[in-house]
Amino acid sequence: MITTTGLTKVYRARGREITALDGVDLHVREGEVYGVIGRSGAGKSSLIRCVNLLERPTAGTVTVAGQDLTALAGRGRRASRELRAARSRTGMVFQHFHLLSSRTVQDNVELPLEILGHSRGKRARKARELLELVGLGERATAYPAQLSGGQKQRVGIARALAGDPKVLLSDEATSALDPKTTRSILRLLRELNRELGLTVLLITHEMDVVKAVCDSAALMENGRIVESGTVPQLLGTPDSRLARALFPVSGDPLGGEGTVVDVTFHGEAAARPVISRLSRTYNIDISILGAAMDTVGGRQVGRMRLELPGHYEENVVPIGFLREQGLGVQVQGRPARLAEEGAE
Ligand SMILES: Nc1ncnc2c1ncn2[C@@H]1O[C@H](COP(=O)(O)OP(=O)(O)O)[C@@H](O)[C@H]1O
Ligand SMILES: [Mg+2]
Repeated sequence: MITTTGLTKVYRARGREITALDGVDLHVREGEVYGVIGRSGAGKSSLIRCVNLLERPTAGTVTVAGQDLTALAGRGRRASRELRAARSRTGMVFQHFHLLSSRTVQDNVELPLEILGHSRGKRARKARELLELVGLGERATAYPAQLSGGQKQRVGIARALAGDPKVLLSDEATSALDPKTTRSILRLLRELNRELGLTVLLITHEMDVVKAVCDSAALMENGRIVESGTVPQLLGTPDSRLARALFPVSGDPLGGEGTVVDVTFHGEAAARPVISRLSRTYNIDISILGAAMDTVGGRQVGRMRLELPGHYEENVVPIGFLREQGLGVQVQGRPARLAEEGAE
């Protein structure tokens, strides 16, 4: 749905060059909620502004719903009309809402429809419909100053949906909100994703946001994507930093010669009595050092840190058994490459 290839953005400010995006290849599939997480200055806002061409990339391409926006941007005045049309099919939600304080809630939602040249009657109908959708049907005649932060963001979301976009881009939409309001806005985004089939690309610096709603995630650092994948893929990837941050597991080794493995299970595997089967099949005593269950991206996920008796070499077969059962297995104290080879 959204693909960027080699996306690069270099800002020139006061004779200095700042590379905000350094060859970003991003692939967001239709109908998913995709989170890009990174520290301040990582290039997240530049990425999202380049995706809808609010910012012109220095190099690389952006394709949204099969349309190469970078090619449109490069073709002068006629292109700019097409680009504006393409942009109206991409909704954008901002951290600080960007509502016009002199306009009512309804008039704020109508604004993009005015720009698109829709009739008064059509605008009003659409705005009312959208306000119902975001749970603000009763507040159409209020002014932004009379609303809470969460309500303002709902207006921002309704406005973003005015052009019936297929894609919603969100730049830190919940960063100005308290945790409870954050959850309700994330729930709304998830509902819109499901009910409208909306693809959502959201930028955040908060791991909890990724954990709450994302199907896929990417970690951004210094203008690059250093890790990406679906949440189950990430959770199953040895040494994935995102997985560790999404779902930390702890527990100290017993101090003997045992082999410590972190096991991640989701979906079907979570329901099977894998550990007791392992113990019976190989006649070994397994110690559980730490364990947790949680919901990540709406899916039940479990993590356990286990200790198997004996060195790694003695446990190759039981570890293989765990992997065959569909569990993500990461052997502690071994570099990722070797831990992976253990899978063979
Ligand atoms: N308009 C701009 N002019 C110059 N430098 C910019 C501009 N916008 C962002 N930057 C710089 O680009 C880098 C990435 O910024 P940004 O995309 O805003 O990151 P994030 O959203 O992850 O905090 C930072 O070093 C920032 O200072
Ligand atoms: Mg930013």
